[in-house]
Amino acid sequence: MTSLKMPSVLVESPNTVYDGDFIEANYRYTSNRVTQKDGIFQVKPVEENIKIRTGRKLNKLGVMLVGWGGNNGSTLTAAIEAHKHKVTWNTKRGLKKPDWFGSLTQSSTVNIGYDSTDGSPVYVPFKDVLPTVDPEEILVDGWDISSADLNQAVRRAAVLDVNLQDKLEPFLKDFQPRPSVYKEKFIAQNQRERADNVLPGSDASMVDRLRADIREMKRRSDLVVVVWTANTESLCPVLQGVHDTADNLLRAIQEGHADISPSVLFAVAAILEKCPFINGSPQNTFVPGVTELAAREGSWIAGDDFKTGQTRMKSVLVDFLVGCGIKPVAIASYNHLGNNDGRNLHSKPQFEAKRVSKTNVIDDIVVSNSILYQPGEKVDHTVVIEYLPYLGDSKRAMDEYTSEIMMGGLNTIVLHNVCEDSLLAAPVILDLVVLVELASRIAFQTQHSSPDWLPFTSELGVLSYMFKAPVVPQGGNIVNALSKQRACIINLMRACIGLPPEHHIDLESKVH
Ligand code: NAI
Repeated sequence: MTSLKMPSVLVESPNTVYDGDFIEANYRYTSNRVTQKDGIFQVKPVEENIKIRTGRKLNKLGVMLVGWGGNNGSTLTAAIEAHKHKVTWNTKRGLKKPDWFGSLTQSSTVNIGYDSTDGSPVYVPFKDVLPTVDPEEILVDGWDISSADLNQAVRRAAVLDVNLQDKLEPFLKDFQPRPSVYKEKFIAQNQRERADNVLPGSDASMVDRLRADIREMKRRSDLVVVVWTANTESLCPVLQGVHDTADNLLRAIQEGHADISPSVLFAVAAILEKCPFINGSPQNTFVPGVTELAAREGSWIAGDDFKTGQTRMKSVLVDFLVGCGIKPVAIASYNHLGNNDGRNLHSKPQFEAKRVSKTNVIDDIVVSNSILYQPGEKVDHTVVIEYLPYLGDSKRAMDEYTSEIMMGGLNTIVLHNVCEDSLLAAPVILDLVVLVELASRIAFQTQHSSPDWLPFTSELGVLSYMFKAPVVPQGGNIVNALSKQRACIINLMRACIGLPPEHHIDLESKVH
């Protein structure tokens, strides 16, 4: 563990105790139980007193990226190094210095109340509500099937300004991705020419090797988080006797079954090392055997598929429309891009994994409104991705939303979004690892669990904000709407310091 950080926000309340290594909050958790009888909704508010304990000592955080030399992995590493070494660079728009725009934890703020003198709202940086890891303190390591070092990888990605690339060269050139698992069956054939850094041997021996890599990183850090930001794999068939239980999966790995994907091998290695595993791509890495193994080993998993651009916008826009009482009926989403992700997604089986996670993102919003949508009714929704090499990482997303408005009217909204894909993804990956580290220090004591402290469940649904297809515990509610996902994280952080959820009523300026 690293230093004990002094809190930037101190709550003065008998319900919030700053006690040595912990912040302990007595929290009244309220919710409503609803029954329907004779067309009437009967609502019963229920409440439970719980204790929430947050460790104040930060872990030395080690992040291991699978696909380290890819656009996301290299951009994230470059940004961390640029911050660490205070690198500045010249552009045609003047001198630039590093920032984390696009990061919830580093660049957004949270309202914590109203100024005691003039009543104006007071906002603090998100990262200061609770002690969180400083990105500059993060150690990065990882694997790639391509042997390019991180300096070469940043240049190949062509995401960052060339002046910045030049300045970062001394800090990046010694970062060498570890050899990785390569199985032609799971990623596009067009990736083959990149694969010059691959592990030999059986699945079982590769898992042992990955575990040894993770253990090496553990010697340099207190908490190692493994993040899959490698190419999207094809969906793997979920076979009885192979992927269905933890024991069957472990046996299938020992026997070298052909349908075990590289991402499953990484997930198993991380879980067995009790390290959180994050899946940033859409494939079904979290087969039942993996989720069971994570629960059994007490390891955390989170996924699937980073929510960064078009889909993030969709989970805002559809929520906004439906919240207004307007009925989206048809959505067409076109993408074209020229980076290696686009090249891989050009192949049908990999595209199929992406299509599924991109279209499911409005499901919870549609079912929330039974005035607009009948049970089972779907929005007519299509997603297209084309590969246009010239554009590199500059992704174009064009969306058309057609909605029914009053009295037979139609409303069509068209969006055209252009930006470097990896500059949206890198801060999201940073948020994920910062929040996983925070989550690892939070525990709950409920009336049922007392005196035991319960950690978060192994599926970290609290991180849904960052994923297109959030993985939640079986029977849990999947939330896609971005504003609800953000409110969940913020209200949970407030709960950790004994503050009630943000309600926005602001009665002080409405009633005198
Ligand atoms: P990329 O193609 O530039 O990087 C992927 C890297 O993974 C490559 O360097 C490749 O050599 C490596 N790789 C492939 N298989 C591997 C394996 N088995 N082990 C280790 N390394 C392996 O792609 P990019 O743009 O960095 O995206 C990474 C992933 O993140 C893709 O699956 C993409 O769909 C997903 N994603 C990206 C978003 C974005 O905004 N950039 C948003 C949502 C998801």
